[in-house]
Amino acid sequence: MHVSSKVNSLAFSGTMQISGKAKELKAQGVNVIDLSVGEPDFPTPQRVKDAAVKAIADNQTKYTMAAGIVPLREAVGAWFKQSYGLDYAANEIIISNGAKHSLYNTLQTIIEVGEEVIIPAPYWVTYPALVEIVDGVPITVETTKEEGFKLTPEKFKAAITPKTRALILCNPSNPTGSVYTKAELEEIAEIVLENDLYVISDEIYSKLVYDDFEYTSFPTLSDEIKKKTILIDGVSKSYSMTGWRIGFTAADKELISGMGKLQSQMTSNASTISQYAALEAITGPQDDVEEMRKTFNERRIYLRDALNLIDGVEAGDAKGAFYLFPNVSSVFGKSYGDTKINGSFDLSMYLIAEAQVATVPGSVFGAEGFLRIAYATSMENLQEGVKRIEEALAKLS
Ligand SMILES: Cc1ncc(COP(=O)(O)O)c(C=O)c1O
Repeated sequence: MHVSSKVNSLAFSGTMQISGKAKELKAQGVNVIDLSVGEPDFPTPQRVKDAAVKAIADNQTKYTMAAGIVPLREAVGAWFKQSYGLDYAANEIIISNGAKHSLYNTLQTIIEVGEEVIIPAPYWVTYPALVEIVDGVPITVETTKEEGFKLTPEKFKAAITPKTRALILCNPSNPTGSVYTKAELEEIAEIVLENDLYVISDEIYSKLVYDDFEYTSFPTLSDEIKKKTILIDGVSKSYSMTGWRIGFTAADKELISGMGKLQSQMTSNASTISQYAALEAITGPQDDVEEMRKTFNERRIYLRDALNLIDGVEAGDAKGAFYLFPNVSSVFGKSYGDTKINGSFDLSMYLIAEAQVATVPGSVFGAEGFLRIAYATSMENLQEGVKRIEEALAKLS
């Protein structure tokens, strides 16, 4: 068999590996508490499911324009306007097969072979892989817990070379849950403009922000910065629609037209039925989104406070997405029986084996010393998960 060296060099998504392991154990009847997931546990809102059924009944089951149906592209424009006051026309928006596909289209459209893309770490695992797929070079820049896991202007400047084409900003962040303030984004924006870079602003979690944090969408900073921003969003996280595979990209119309050409050759349109479902999701009553956000917030507060009470765990106070990224490095070097915990991967494996709790090791996201714990599960599961983690950590010495 011949598998190309490019594909051979790719790793399976680390997060999917862990949730795969959790699913496998569950299938064997093991009572696993899965805190590794990257998707909301709520069902897709009924009104959205009804819209999909109606689309099928109305025979909306054929190809659409590759870039997506115009009503949805217009609605996405109106949604950005209503959410952030941004102006995007339908020809500045493309609908793709999930935000992951939007990111691929973007990178393939703007990156020449060998060009560098700056990725602050901890990063969502897919970013470096996608940059490599398009023959770019991912340049990861470490950020610390003390910096709130956010890119500082100094570190950003230091990472720029003549080959840098773009910065990927994940705001709010998967895996840390951090959210950038407007002032922090302005400092980044200044450097972006000075160096004529693109910013790929992945705002897929932007509707999941807590504690009255005033969220700033990157392209709102100025008209100049809007021209240099490729805004990524979608319905997966905010509307609990991960399986429907709809992502949005908003950018300058020349870039969108390039992405449309690419998409027309690669996948054609995103699922027609899902496009109609997404249209309902963003144009219908938004109470369900707010309900989900409130529930996430209650879980976030519980989990943060409960984790902080465990010896050896420092949960921090993330204000977005549905993840906490606690520092667990103080248990490294400890053992239980023959199991020695040398790092976050060992700890994650230990927690699955010993406590049947699935978490994702920080090392997967380029940040040793931490675990990603998702609160996209019920309060009962969180309580049971915390109890099991506490008991398992107490056994280590
Ligand atoms: C930061 C980030 N961006 C993009 C995506 C992809 O979203 P989608 O399911 O719409 O492809 C995810 C999903 O985990 C994510 O965490």
